Amino acid sequence: MSQQNDAFKKLVAHCKEYGFIFPSSEVYDGLSAVYDYGPYGVELKNNIKEYWWRSMVQMHENIVGIDAAIFMHPKTWKASGHVDAFNDPLVDNKDSKKRYRADVLIEEYMDKIEGKINKEVEKAQKRFGDTFDEAMYRSTNPRVAEYQQQFDTIKTRLATAMSQGDMAALKTLIEELEIADPDTGSRNWTEVRQFNLMFSTQLGNIAGEEGKLYLRPETAQGIFVNFLNVQKSTRQKVPFGIAQIGKAFRNEIVARQFIFRMREFEQMEMQFFIPPGTQKDWFDYWKDMRRKWHLALGTPASKLRFHKHENLAHYADAAEDIQFEFPFGFKELEGIHSRTDFDLGSHQELSGKKMQYFDPERNENYVPYVIETSIGCDRMFLAMMSHALTEETVPGSSDEGNTRDVLRLHPALAPVKAAILPLKRNEDRLVGKAKDIFNQLRLSFKVQYDDTGSIGKLYRRQDAIGTPYCITVDFDTLEDNTVTIRDRDTLVQDRVAIDRLEDIIRERVDMKQLFA
Ligand code: GAP
Repeated sequence: MSQQNDAFKKLVAHCKEYGFIFPSSEVYDGLSAVYDYGPYGVELKNNIKEYWWRSMVQMHENIVGIDAAIFMHPKTWKASGHVDAFNDPLVDNKDSKKRYRADVLIEEYMDKIEGKINKEVEKAQKRFGDTFDEAMYRSTNPRVAEYQQQFDTIKTRLATAMSQGDMAALKTLIEELEIADPDTGSRNWTEVRQFNLMFSTQLGNIAGEEGKLYLRPETAQGIFVNFLNVQKSTRQKVPFGIAQIGKAFRNEIVARQFIFRMREFEQMEMQFFIPPGTQKDWFDYWKDMRRKWHLALGTPASKLRFHKHENLAHYADAAEDIQFEFPFGFKELEGIHSRTDFDLGSHQELSGKKMQYFDPERNENYVPYVIETSIGCDRMFLAMMSHALTEETVPGSSDEGNTRDVLRLHPALAPVKAAILPLKRNEDRLVGKAKDIFNQLRLSFKVQYDDTGSIGKLYRRQDAIGTPYCITVDFDTLEDNTVTIRDRDTLVQDRVAIDRLEDIIRERVDMKQLFA
């Protein structure tokens, strides 16, 4: 666990040191759960968005994009159910004045029980060595069985209380388990109450409740309310999809784990409109497509898993998460939801405007059903960074014994595709030649010229930001128009003609390979 913590702390520090992510308004000590993307961060984030956008909109003839406004008519959120049901159970500690999510406090208690079970298993494993049968031990050891029963009972009670919105039951559970404020140890809790996660603000020209606006908590609703506009203007036929990338806002009570849970974040969402009754097949189709999208980036299958929702959101008849193994364990990266006709149906009802589609094949009108794929851009960023950041001993003769931090991002996502480095910075002819190469390559790729240190230091810096190639200009270059090109991962250095550089770089960084 502490090794995981160390890895995570290192990642956060790396993101700041190398200009990927900064705390928001840091000069004022930051704003909790709000972050800014720095120069390399924004490049990586843009590449993630481009990969997603192109794989949806460019690679599917029947998916089109939109960019809806963040502000929407307040009735949108009434119809979507967010005004009434987008709540988390909140509990305050009267002594520390700190706020917690009641369900998270209980889950953390359950984590501790799980930790105890794992400790017992580990101890037994050491004791019995190769002959250890873990399944047998878990089912027969009395102490483990007792912990497991305790765990299962709490899990059931929590799930029931959550699905029934029973705040009193959550409070009782907290009291019975004697859960204390993690910071102060105080057990002096308020009642548990529902807390709506939407941020609200006010329209300039209307006073009071009438003018109350919400910052969208999901981008999906901008798609739903535009369903007919898009369908009619593009003459798409069901099944078809609408994709959108944009900011979403949630007043999260517990905002931790860096950019994993933020109050302002970005979503990449696609709503796929389908005939009623076909949702099971399309749900499976999109599960498979989205898994492949992740695998294409080189993410090992062992780091991804599906997790079926037991408590379905108010709009869904099926939902699964794609979980990723973050440094703090497997957590939700993306959601795939079968949203039925809930959203279009509710907008139709509240607006009084028809949300129906005439299906020429079925010769009938219906409100389409929807399969949604929804992934947080920031979470995807965190997943990619945490998987990519590696500390390793440098192989190869010249660097032997040294360690390096290398960001093994997929080259198509790397913020900088190649760095052009003159062997000596105060040698005009080398600098001039390196700048010529830089000026030529910048027409095609995001490249960087750097002469601010020794070659060894420049290599280290490029490794740390994930640059797939370093191109070194030396005295031979002046004679024969060749350069050394160094591979970030293998550290192999090849001598190549300058006019081959563009092809070599393109072959590795082009997103085309991801779509294949
Ligand atoms: N439209 C459906 C929807 O919004 P969700 O599971 O609440 O579903 C979808 O969110 C994705 O958005 C999540 O899988 C996660 O990647 C991202 N996400 C949600 N809340 C977030 C937060 N507070 N900070 C960062 N990302 C978040």
